[in-house]
Amino acid sequence: MPTALDRMLTIDDLKRRAKRRVPKMFFDYADSGSWTEGTYRDNEADFQKIRLRQRVAVNMEGRTLRTQMMGEEVAMPVALAPTGLTGMQIADGEIKAAKAAEKFGVPFTLSTMSICSIEDIAEHTTRPFWFQLYVMRDREFIYRLIDRAKAAKCSALVLTMDLQVLGQRHKDLRNGLSAPPKFTPKHVWQMATRPLWAFGMLGTQRRTFRNIHGHVSGAADLGSLSAWTASQFDPTLSWSDVRWIKERFGGPVIVKGVLDPEDAKLAIANGADAIIVSNHGGRQLDGAPSSIRVLPEILDAVNGAVDVYLDGGIRSGQDVLKAVALGAKGAFIGRAFLYGLGAGGEAGVTRALEIIQREMDITMALMGERDIHNVGPHNIYSNDLLRRQGY
Ligand code: GLV
Repeated sequence: MPTALDRMLTIDDLKRRAKRRVPKMFFDYADSGSWTEGTYRDNEADFQKIRLRQRVAVNMEGRTLRTQMMGEEVAMPVALAPTGLTGMQIADGEIKAAKAAEKFGVPFTLSTMSICSIEDIAEHTTRPFWFQLYVMRDREFIYRLIDRAKAAKCSALVLTMDLQVLGQRHKDLRNGLSAPPKFTPKHVWQMATRPLWAFGMLGTQRRTFRNIHGHVSGAADLGSLSAWTASQFDPTLSWSDVRWIKERFGGPVIVKGVLDPEDAKLAIANGADAIIVSNHGGRQLDGAPSSIRVLPEILDAVNGAVDVYLDGGIRSGQDVLKAVALGAKGAFIGRAFLYGLGAGGEAGVTRALEIIQREMDITMALMGERDIHNVGPHNIYSNDLLRRQGY
């Protein structure tokens, strides 16, 4: 008997199911961009402008998507992106997503702003995961946080550089988003109308930011997310911080949030081992270009010095292939797995990964490629956008 999840054929199917199961304020948190949400929309729309080149009568047997990311074997060039409040999409959300990623054979990245802690994930998984770091004003706390990631054997640190201040997200402000949720009549109603979600939440202790709560004095009540972020995040973060962070962690550092070729060069000059081209899912500088649009110029600037990844707008396996065809070594998915998580917990994340994998596999076959390593610019049509970037 196929389950409801088996009938989900696209990431959009999972999104619709998640919307029915996750309280509005948390669904909206995932589904929001800053200000007009124009960059959020462009991330998806610009992928649609890229056309794939069909080839026929090519032997398509024995296809493989297997490759490496940060020197680690992966089932396909896709990693789970760090996303805040993941444990509010469903109880113990980060643990569920990490387990799905581990079984599937793709990296999981835990956000600093996660509900489950670094230690929670280490306890429930067997392979190393990646940890995403936000640098806050309280440096002693940040030293300890890096040490905790190291102690948990995290194999890479994803350093986010584009959130010294929070982009204004109207949905979150209107919803009065906080973690743990406030118990205003509106919020109680949103939770009461999602009984499966509420039942799950009653069964877990993990309902606040467990990387932070209890580890920072004065952070007992994280209040409204935007106010808390404004008071804690370090607005003075600079390139010179990359060095001590890398030294303290002692492992590879992936710099996330690069949209400009100059920043890509500065990241590398200051020790970045890899780069994620990202506009934070359209959640920070609204009006900035889509990630896929700037990928070619970043690749030109990097000139092979480090691996370049991309996030923002990936909603299908075809989107991953388009990024890889342009030169990315892989893509990070945020909302695509969050919708799976909201729709069906660990099995829902697995379903999201299966959807993307199947789309990649069949698309690659129809493009006449058998090995992901052979996918390149020859597999796509250069349109105006890409031609301007030199393709
Ligand atoms: C945090 O990373 C956010 O974008 O809300």
